[in-house]
Amino acid sequence: MSIAVTGATGHLGRLIVESLLRRGVPPDQIVALGRNVAKADDLRDRGLPSCRSSTTTSTRCAWRSPGSTS
Ligand SMILES: NC(=O)c1ccc[n+]([C@@H]2O[C@H](COP(=O)([O-])OP(=O)(O)OC[C@H]3O[C@@H](n4cnc5c(N)ncnc54)[C@H](OP(=O)(O)O)[C@@H]3O)[C@@H](O)[C@H]2O)c1
Repeated sequence: MSIAVTGATGHLGRLIVESLLRRGVPPDQIVALGRNVAKADDLRDRGLPSCRSSTTTSTRCAWRSPGSTS
């Protein structure tokens, strides 16, 4: 089961993501949603899928393996 966190690029969403990780949810099971996915670069580096998502556009997702530079 995956957990999608809306607004993960913002303050409260980021706190929710960190809380889920602390509770032991595997990073690849937490999908970080936000409009400016560059703000989720560090989360992708930690193995979370991230998706560009807004209320007005379609959703695009990206994954990066931990440690990958691309
Ligand atoms: N912080 C608090 O103490 C607090 C207290 C009570 C209520 N709230 C409410 O809780 C919500 C989040 O607060 P926050 O402090 O985390 O705000 P924030 O840091 O400004 O984050 C807002 C988040 O929502 C995303 N977002 C904004 N417009 C969007 C849209 N049209 N479609 C999809 N995503 C959108 C932003 O994406 P991008 O950054 O990628 O653009 C960002 O991830 C707000 O509605 C706020 O009023 C906050």
